[in-house]
Amino acid sequence: MGLPWKENENMSFSTPTMMVLILAFVCKGTLSHNLGYRLTSPASVSVQRGLCVHIPCHFTYAAPHQTVSGTLYGYWFKNNKGSWYYFYPNNHYVQGLLVVTNDKRQPVERSAVGRFHLTGDPAESNCSFSINDAKFEDKGTYYFRIERGNLRYTFITNQAASASLHVVVTELTEKPKIWNTSELVVGKPVTVICQAPGSCSGTPPKISWRTESKSYKTSLLHHQHSSRSWAYESEITFLPSLADQGKALTCSVTYPAVGARAEESIHLRLDYQPQDIKTVVNIQRPGCPGSREEEEGLDPVVAWEGDTVRVICRAEGRPDPSMAWMKENEIVTKMNQGKAHTLLLPEIRLQDAGEYQCQARNRLGLTSKTIRVIVQFRKREKTRVRSLR
Ligand SMILES: *[C@@H]1O[C@H](CO)[C@@H](O)[C@H](O)[C@H]1NC(C)=O
Ligand SMILES: *[C@@H]1O[C@H](CO)[C@@H](O)[C@H](O)[C@H]1NC(C)=O
Repeated sequence: MGLPWKENENMSFSTPTMMVLILAFVCKGTLSHNLGYRLTSPASVSVQRGLCVHIPCHFTYAAPHQTVSGTLYGYWFKNNKGSWYYFYPNNHYVQGLLVVTNDKRQPVERSAVGRFHLTGDPAESNCSFSINDAKFEDKGTYYFRIERGNLRYTFITNQAASASLHVVVTELTEKPKIWNTSELVVGKPVTVICQAPGSCSGTPPKISWRTESKSYKTSLLHHQHSSRSWAYESEITFLPSLADQGKALTCSVTYPAVGARAEESIHLRLDYQPQDIKTVVNIQRPGCPGSREEEEGLDPVVAWEGDTVRVICRAEGRPDPSMAWMKENEIVTKMNQGKAHTLLLPEIRLQDAGEYQCQARNRLGLTSKTIRVIVQFRKREKTRVRSLR
């Protein structure tokens, strides 16, 4: 349909009429400023693209008008030089684009429909409004107008017709929030939640996950906190395996109304019981300084009396395991946290022979490995001969 106000540039009205219109527009803002008209709102608000903002606003108007009966209509205009808005009921023009009103007779700017909401009741001197699905094109200056019978007033703060409210729209930089609802442990199902930025009642964002984990299940959750405040969350449940260690879990949020996107990733740090326990044996024979054999997994360990035997025990686990070497249920040596712990048997004696068990333990469990140490008797004839000489 052809809205007259959209065609106002082509409409022919005399220059005097136009002058009167402009004077009426400018003068009301200045003259009436001293006559009990006041609007209180933030001078400027900032909103990220795709998100929402609520602008608290309160106004007062001249006492003689307060007793007039009839509905008090409120109108928010976006300043747009060159466009004039045509008011049907009173047959007059106002500069700007109408974005929201409680006056059902007046058509509002198409791109504002459903996104701008007058949340305050003008009858209660409340001009609060909200913007949902914020778009770059929303940035600019806005001003409020009231009408009731002969009361027609636009709240403008100075003669240069600057608007009372400045809206800034920036790119979406807020990130989704990700958190785990239980500890991250290999082999234990875990649910991770992602919450979309903003708590807006506009078009719901779409939340999706990217993961390298094979077995997972996602579901979308919406929580309404109040009529204007929502939380959009998605949860993913999966069974982490050791192969998922360090892998990224990404939550991606898109705002379909404006095509904005926000992403956040976490890297899985999975706890697991100690495993992959290994031993490396090193024997040093006296008089043979070069003889450092290192052998992984050697069992049994066969040494000569007087040799120095080292057995390094390594294990993987998260958190780092505490490690101990035991012999017949007695601790030989232990350490609090680490990935390797050495059993040192210097100048080994016959009674050092036996079974040694390396234990690696963290809060998730224990793993162990036992090796047998055999000590062979070394004949001391040569030594005796030497001392007899
Ligand atoms: C104006 O209306 C808004 C939205 O309903 C409300 O949150 C606010 O408290 C009201 N302000 C006053 C001063 O009543
Ligand atoms: C999330 O995982 C970490 C690492 O496993 C853990 O320390 C933390 O307690 C977990 N959070 C909750 C709420 O369980």
